[in-house]
Amino acid sequence: MGKFNSKNLNHIGVLTSGGDAPGMNAAIRAVVRTGIFHGLKVTAILHGYEGLIRKELQPMNLSSVANTIQRGGTIIKTGRCKDFFHATGRSRAARHFVEAGFDALVAIGGDGTFTGAHLIWKEHQIPIVGVAGTIDNDVFGTDHTIGFDTAVNTALDAIDKIRDTAASHDRLFIVEVMGRNSGHIALEVGLACGAEQIFMPENKVSIKHACKVIERGVKRGKNSSILICAEGDKPGRAYDIAKQIKSVGGFDAKVCILGHIQRGGSPTAYDRNLASRMGSFAVELLTQGKCDVMAGEANLKPVAVGMKDTFSRTKPINRDWITLENILSI
Ligand code: F6P
Repeated sequence: MGKFNSKNLNHIGVLTSGGDAPGMNAAIRAVVRTGIFHGLKVTAILHGYEGLIRKELQPMNLSSVANTIQRGGTIIKTGRCKDFFHATGRSRAARHFVEAGFDALVAIGGDGTFTGAHLIWKEHQIPIVGVAGTIDNDVFGTDHTIGFDTAVNTALDAIDKIRDTAASHDRLFIVEVMGRNSGHIALEVGLACGAEQIFMPENKVSIKHACKVIERGVKRGKNSSILICAEGDKPGRAYDIAKQIKSVGGFDAKVCILGHIQRGGSPTAYDRNLASRMGSFAVELLTQGKCDVMAGEANLKPVAVGMKDTFSRTKPINRDWITLENILSI
């Protein structure tokens, strides 16, 4: 954890960075309103770190965040800033931080966002507290990230519809969900939709085994199956799996890639409230002079997780749930 002198904390910035996630607006609202509650001036930085480099600033007040808690996306825009990966980009951002009169920042995002936050603290002593916001839920130290619950429910809603047509036509479907290098969405969705098999980076399943599972189902009269596949680092992976299933087991499969639909939509109550708690906690941490940490939640309690840990350590998949899924899909 980093420490800075918060006696002169007057002006904070808030930004969202990386992929948008439903609930980010609730987090922005919490940061703005908790900041104002503490007598701070709050300014939004638009388009993530890019906005700090390009000086895209927007003063915030109580009504700037009115009527936003239910909205998906992020009202202050986001981006994946390539310049921030380089020391020169971070130097410019640090210079603009000082010129804008900021004392500290809250950065809402995932592992890429936190890597940048940690580096700019180390190189330029810019105090930042992170808030865990990504649909992937792949951030170490927090049970859940903002947007995960909504994304899972969005995917589930789509898969329930696919089940109807799969059952009507006696078909096998492979549904690809997001999650980049992690299978948190795939596992949660797979368990909730009763998938026959889940493919995810943390648990390699052979095509031969998957074909055996499908065949076992067919033998006992199952006429349709759903396989869930995490995109991994290669979106479109579901098509490869479908090809292999055809060549190994002779099964025809329809592929459905859910894609960015999972990132949109109104956040669930869970995401809104998680975002409100963590956004507010982030500002409390800054008022205590704490930085280089992420505001997260473990066992329903707020936790300040060392920023470096959030991206350098891996959040494990719950392996008991994989076992459970295998038992229940028999
Ligand atoms: O990190 C969130 C996420 O939605 C991943 O699940 C996905 O791999 C990635 O973002 C897609 O990013 P983009 O919208 O930039 O293509």
